[in-house]
Amino acid sequence: MLTPVVPSIAEVRQLVREARQAGRRVGFVPTMGALHAGHAALIRQARLETDFVVVSIFVNPTQFGPTEDFGKYPRTLEDDRQLCTAVGTDLIFAPDAATMYPPDASTFVEVPALQTGLCGDRRPGHFRGVATVVLKLFNIVAPDVAYFGQKDYQQARLLQQMAEDLNVPTQVVMCPTVRESDGLAMSSRNRYLSPVERGHAVCLIQSLEHAKLMLAAGERHVNLLVRGMVDILEQTPGARIDYVEIRDAKTLQPIGVVERPAVAALAVFLGTTRLIDNLILNP
Ligand code: PAJ
Repeated sequence: MLTPVVPSIAEVRQLVREARQAGRRVGFVPTMGALHAGHAALIRQARLETDFVVVSIFVNPTQFGPTEDFGKYPRTLEDDRQLCTAVGTDLIFAPDAATMYPPDASTFVEVPALQTGLCGDRRPGHFRGVATVVLKLFNIVAPDVAYFGQKDYQQARLLQQMAEDLNVPTQVVMCPTVRESDGLAMSSRNRYLSPVERGHAVCLIQSLEHAKLMLAAGERHVNLLVRGMVDILEQTPGARIDYVEIRDAKTLQPIGVVERPAVAALAVFLGTTRLIDNLILNP
């Protein structure tokens, strides 16, 4: 049987309430659909650790900038439903935009310390849209545990901070990045790449792995590590750097020397497609 798709907030609340009354712990995986093996891994982890797994599918308009790909973002609900069913999802919440954002809505969630820098500077308003929709989803689904991917490291850290700061009774778990066999992080946006761009996209993980090797060889200076990463990207035809940075893994503040766990993060355009990736650097 296919996983039920529920567009109504009231109905989701009711089904979750029934599950909880039956003593089941509720796991939640928020997504924008176009599901791939990265999303599937989050759902599987939820399946292992909780008893009632809810996946949301909502292409959230408030996290897209005016020149971004909201209109052309892939919408593949029937395939998504098949994937959710195959990996063991109890319920899909798929609201429409008017359900999530009635015309009179005017409240937004901000996490200033974590929403600036990295992707935040390149995508103004993006994380405000993410934090707002995720808090709304948490309030609708009321999960015990919610699962996010390390692929979007800044997003996951910001949502952990939001949940802590606002006393949200949901544990926010960050799961490892799932990669293609050549190391490219899986992403719904990879389908925008031409075959040639797809070949070049391996430069992101090569650049990150290079930083890891330099660190293992004793290099601790962020400017030199970043220089090494940039060199690799600049050798890749058609790759245009949006940013390359190494920051404190917890606070996401800039650092000069890697003395504690840090995150090496980058965003690179291949043609018009913007890809992101990151690795944790452990000195
Ligand atoms: P989306 O891009 O659909 O991603 C949904 C979840 O899947 C996020 O937690 C993301 O980090 C995770 N994910 C994506 N690719 C992954 C990969 N290769 N390995 C592991 N996890 C991966 O992120 C969003 O949607 C939205 O911003 C959302 C949180 C749903 C709010 O609208």
